[in-house]
Amino acid sequence: MDVLQWIEEALDAKTCNSEDFIYEDMDSQSGRSLPIVYQEFDSRRKGHWQDRGSLFDFLFSVRGENNKLLDFGPGDGWPSLIVAPFAAEIIGIEGSEKRVAVCSENATRLGVANVEYVFARPGTPLPFGDDTFDGIMASSSVEQTPDPQATLAELFRVLRPAGRLRINYESLSGYRNGHERDAFLWGMGADRCRLILYDRDIEHECVRQYGLTYAVSQKNLVKLLDASERSLTFDSLTIQRLEALSYRLLDARVCRTTHPSGQTLATWPLDIGFSEVYPTHSGSTSAGMLFDSIPKKRHPSDLQGVDELVRPLAEVVCALASPLDTDPMLTAVK
Ligand SMILES: C[S@@+](CC[C@H](N)C(=O)[O-])C[C@H]1O[C@@H](n2cnc3c(N)ncnc32)[C@H](O)[C@@H]1O
Repeated sequence: MDVLQWIEEALDAKTCNSEDFIYEDMDSQSGRSLPIVYQEFDSRRKGHWQDRGSLFDFLFSVRGENNKLLDFGPGDGWPSLIVAPFAAEIIGIEGSEKRVAVCSENATRLGVANVEYVFARPGTPLPFGDDTFDGIMASSSVEQTPDPQATLAELFRVLRPAGRLRINYESLSGYRNGHERDAFLWGMGADRCRLILYDRDIEHECVRQYGLTYAVSQKNLVKLLDASERSLTFDSLTIQRLEALSYRLLDARVCRTTHPSGQTLATWPLDIGFSEVYPTHSGSTSAGMLFDSIPKKRHPSDLQGVDELVRPLAEVVCALASPLDTDPMLTAVK
């Protein structure tokens, strides 16, 4: 028997959505890595330039300046918290109550007053009237919902005519050649961890994730498995090895999602009624290239200096059509 079938049958894995699979349990969905939101801006770090590239990418893609925006699935408040200083108002809609609490705390701590975070149960209509928003940002979230096509239809409904939706998606094709099946160990504090197994069916555009929660720290689970974090691969996790850990198992869960490819994501919006969809280059990638192309000694030393360089570049790049999946970013126009 295959290890995933064994988890489903012998461990009686409970089916859940992506929120219950992981997001409800995370204090910080980004591991407190977000510049500005969790870390002071540091102009010496490429990732911080890329973050500014993402901000201006979202802002200009959705024509967001001084407008009312929706952030679909903000996680820790990204990108809404960094876009907020440029927009009139942003609502962040989350399928996880825990994430709403974290986003709201972050907004309060940062003194961002024009963003509000709201909970909506996944799979239910969005709690907004038709044509409510001037623009919508969705970063790595559409593919996490129970029915991504229905999600896009809801985003279409709440977007005003001629409004723009900017989607940043996780491209499944990046997992070809050996990463279709992966294992990941997530520490959940001093005495718990979750072993996550991914099974990505790239051709059929769907993903199964299995989560095994153990009453033991991440470090100790690695020891019990007689492995190192590196050697903890999908193939190393046999039924026998997992069976030996059963006495520490707290629960087993499985989350099945439809994970549309870039090609599918570029097609569905047209079926739904959007007038135009196009993949583009990304502000984030171009900001990273800019960082690399300028000698370190000429890097600006503060946020304003970096923004002066990154902002005009992102504005151009996010409107520049690219082949699909070059940068996994799409704009759809209602
Ligand atoms: C991968 S995280 C992305 C977070 C953030 N946008 C970012 O890019 O860092 C996906 C987020 O989408 C949220 N999400 C999943 N399904 C949702 C739904 N049906 N409605 C609203 N949010 C949802 C999850 O709770 C999670 O916070």
